[in-house]
Amino acid sequence: MTWLAKRELAMTYTPAPRDPKQLPVRINLLSDTQTRPTPAMREAIARAEVGDEQIGDDPTVNLLCERVADLLGKEAAVFMPSGTMCNVAATLVHCRPGDEILAHETAHIIAREGGAHAALGGFQITPLPGADGQFSPATFRAALHPRSRYQPPQTVVSVEQTANIGGGTIWKKAALDEIVQIANSNGLATHMDGARLMNACVATGIGAREMAKGWDSAWIDFSKGLGAPVGAAIAGSREFIDEVWRWKQRLGGSMRQAGICAAACVHALDHHVDRLAEDHANARALARGLSQIRGIEVQQPETNLVFFSPDGAGVTGDDMVARLRQHGVLLAMMDGRIRACTHLDVTAAMIEETVGLVREIARSA
Ligand SMILES: Cc1ncc(COP(=O)(O)O)c(C=O)c1O
Repeated sequence: MTWLAKRELAMTYTPAPRDPKQLPVRINLLSDTQTRPTPAMREAIARAEVGDEQIGDDPTVNLLCERVADLLGKEAAVFMPSGTMCNVAATLVHCRPGDEILAHETAHIIAREGGAHAALGGFQITPLPGADGQFSPATFRAALHPRSRYQPPQTVVSVEQTANIGGGTIWKKAALDEIVQIANSNGLATHMDGARLMNACVATGIGAREMAKGWDSAWIDFSKGLGAPVGAAIAGSREFIDEVWRWKQRLGGSMRQAGICAAACVHALDHHVDRLAEDHANARALARGLSQIRGIEVQQPETNLVFFSPDGAGVTGDDMVARLRQHGVLLAMMDGRIRACTHLDVTAAMIEETVGLVREIARSA
């Protein structure tokens, strides 16, 4: 095989073809990104006052940014099309080409952003080990090296609150504080990927401001459990946000009448935060039901993500996913386990039905 053919192969991405004979999805546990805007959210969208976001003239976007800055206890915030763009813009501001970022080995910035941080910034990310998507402060400290011309400057440490592939686990506040303290005393910036920060806040009762305290940059996603169709917002110092704006412009993320989207996010902040507790209760019910099925190994959920493996029941994860799909239940394999995600459009009855189907499939295996 020529090097060109090898490169072609490495670059190939084949999305799973849609099978027209497949039942429509009735129970969608694929991701909390699957939520559809509620009728009330659609009304808020329809009523939105709008302007030109790119020149700071959209009142709904401006309101959202004020709300997020206040929520996260920062000087300013900026509305972004996606969480990925929040992560990318943040590292582009914090780092220079050749710099080193430290993050957990399962972090979204390493595995799921298409290599953006290397492709766009020339940064390398050191994967830190640790259970449940989290590295310990001791592991972080041990990964720091003395500043020398031989080694890449270590400029930022990043955590995911909650840790997605770790099982939707919640970083303890004490660990977050210790990481900030170590970073500060070693001259590293701190970045919090808050794709599911509000889940952590609702589950622990610790406010977002407190969770993000001491972190130089932090963001929340509206298109996940909060149920908006699009959008995320990143917060930090005024100076940091000015620089994020420059990257947002460069990346083509500046928008026009984005108040249409921001209205859904404001609605989500007003109506969809406390209800995340229902998603967590549904996740616990799912885990409880699954753990009663012989051969199913389940990680106890802390928030809205339930990871499980059916291997012990004699069914592979891929098989289980495919067979559930035949019943109209959608979930996916993620890093070797099945991930089920509860959200706004998932009811307790759907959870019960899913457990029943898994039991049936496991029994017939
Ligand atoms: C932990 C984490 N960070 C970042 C993102 C990216 O967010 P978005 O899909 O809005 O780009 C995701 C999305 O699933 C995520 O789970």
